[in-house]
Amino acid sequence: MAIRRILKHDDLTLLKNSRPVERFDDRLAQLLDDLAQTMHGAEGCGLAAVQVGVLRRAAVIDCGDGSGVTEIVNPEIIESSGSQEEQEGCLSFPGEYGITRRPAVVKLRAQNRRGQWCFYKAEGLRARAFCHEIDHMNGVLFQKHVIRKE
Ligand code: NI
Repeated sequence: MAIRRILKHDDLTLLKNSRPVERFDDRLAQLLDDLAQTMHGAEGCGLAAVQVGVLRRAAVIDCGDGSGVTEIVNPEIIESSGSQEEQEGCLSFPGEYGITRRPAVVKLRAQNRRGQWCFYKAEGLRARAFCHEIDHMNGVLFQKHVIRKE
């Protein structure tokens, strides 16, 4: 495992689309391990591969709710409902926060590091984290969802 450098605001890579993961190999496992270590090292609750310069649809989430690290590869939101407005930030934008509007509940499917499809239902912070990381894979940043600052 290794801590990778997190790309910051002015890096145009953050605006690019990530491609699907096709190989569920040791390299993917290494990437996911590194993402988790980098996320924990930076005290964040989510980190997408694009944020360390890898344009693949993979991310890790750990909201500190006891679920541990959730790895999502090629995720797709199946259903979302309700809305919530909470403060949100991003490891690529240290010190920048805003109140965003996100779905209250999301259901998604994603592959794990072995390529198996898993289903998730999340609410609250975890739902927001899933949406935030999936946005990253499409080059979308949280500022797009900010409705007000504090
Ligand atoms: Ni982010």
